[in-house]
Amino acid sequence: MVYEQLKDWFKKHSTENMEIFFDYLRFPSISTDSTYKKDVLECADWLIDFCKSFGLESKLIDTPHYPIVFAEKHISEKYPTILIYGHYDVQPVDPLELWKSDPFEPKLENDNIFARGALDNKGQNFYVLLLLKALHELNISPQVNIKLCIEGEEESSSKGLSEILTDKKKISDLSCDYLLVVDADIPAKDKPAITLGARGIVPMDIELIGSDTDLHSGHHGGIIYSPIRALVEVLAKMWDENGAVAIDKFYEDVKEYSKEDLNELDLSFDKEEYKKSFGARALAPEGGRDILESNWLRPSIEINGIYGGYTKPGFKTVIPASANAKVSCRLVPDQSPEEVGEKISKFLSDNIPKGMEIKVNVMHGGKPISADPNSVIAKGAEKAYSKVFNKPCKKIMTGGSIPVIAELKDALDCEVVLMGMGLSDDNIHAPNEHFSWDRLERGFYVIGMLIDNFKSELS
Ligand code: BES
Ligand code: MN
Repeated sequence: MVYEQLKDWFKKHSTENMEIFFDYLRFPSISTDSTYKKDVLECADWLIDFCKSFGLESKLIDTPHYPIVFAEKHISEKYPTILIYGHYDVQPVDPLELWKSDPFEPKLENDNIFARGALDNKGQNFYVLLLLKALHELNISPQVNIKLCIEGEEESSSKGLSEILTDKKKISDLSCDYLLVVDADIPAKDKPAITLGARGIVPMDIELIGSDTDLHSGHHGGIIYSPIRALVEVLAKMWDENGAVAIDKFYEDVKEYSKEDLNELDLSFDKEEYKKSFGARALAPEGGRDILESNWLRPSIEINGIYGGYTKPGFKTVIPASANAKVSCRLVPDQSPEEVGEKISKFLSDNIPKGMEIKVNVMHGGKPISADPNSVIAKGAEKAYSKVFNKPCKKIMTGGSIPVIAELKDALDCEVVLMGMGLSDDNIHAPNEHFSWDRLERGFYVIGMLIDNFKSELS
């Protein structure tokens, strides 16, 4: 039986496959920082060579930014096609001093592999790649055509992939019946779950300008309005006393979920456990809402960075000329990144001191994703998880974003579901990101069983 064959194969080739994984992790493929352009491109070439080494038809699809790694195992016209999405770019590593080992020299410790991208997303797409390698070496021919789309700039909003979605020829390569996004979590190590939705996002840079030059705070304090003061005042005004967003019409397009919808989801959340595991001092769910409802189903605004003035050792009495913040807003159905970006910009401009100058740069974002729990692909993934974990599969959502998926789904006119093997304490985007080889192995089986399912489901 296929499952047994896959198990034997995984165990037998574990050591050499981990070495290949380490080679993949060694590329510092940081898409947001152009200093790493060469590394991002080399990583894409490495992936193409790897895919070719086990018989996949592979090529780079160019975009105006970083290329997409496209690979295909075409079996027959009479079978449906599944497109598996992942990304080979990673987040920056700073603060580097908090890493216990080099982020681009993977380290194995108690079955955990520490490296930037170990989970997000190289680890997740690596178990997909290994599964295709195994099918090739075991000479197993699935009853579904498989395509891979591993893009190179998810961590910087997927501009390239988004821009080629209007190019009919390029899009025809990606055409499929089912889109499987392998970039999500499970609630706990032994708790399988499919992910039925992810929030959208709209990021922005804000600058307030108070004067032409930095000023002595003795000469000028009590006279001029400090741009840092104006910035913290206007940012603080974005929330009301219950923790809801106070921006006019902010919630107007937000879909309210019914009790039945909520009952479908596993909303269990242990606050004390959460506090302990992250050293979280205080919580801020939207007023009156359940924690996971607030995280998955409600929009939220975060200040991701705030800077200005003197921040080095000692003391400097200055009123700086300008102050900056980086803010992002997570979106839920049916909010649009453009409209919400516009509302926030207007709120900021309307609520700063008269005469102060403001620049808001609303960046490329992405729409929220929602998946149908009754689709063939969602049911198939559910069944595969249950089989591998030997227990019922839950349904969850995520507060995170995968910016291009909603557009990609619309362009391909296909069904979608999200899955993955991440845990919220794998430290993605943070120092000491890690993934366990054991979960990577289970991910490999889940993909294997999902593909194997197509036999019984559809023939
Ligand atoms: N894999 C994550 C999204 C995610 C996070 C899914 C947690 C499930 C659970 C993805 O790589 C990511 O980090 N996306 C960014 C997008 C942003 C940089 C535009 C995000 O959500 O912040
Ligand atoms: Mn990420």
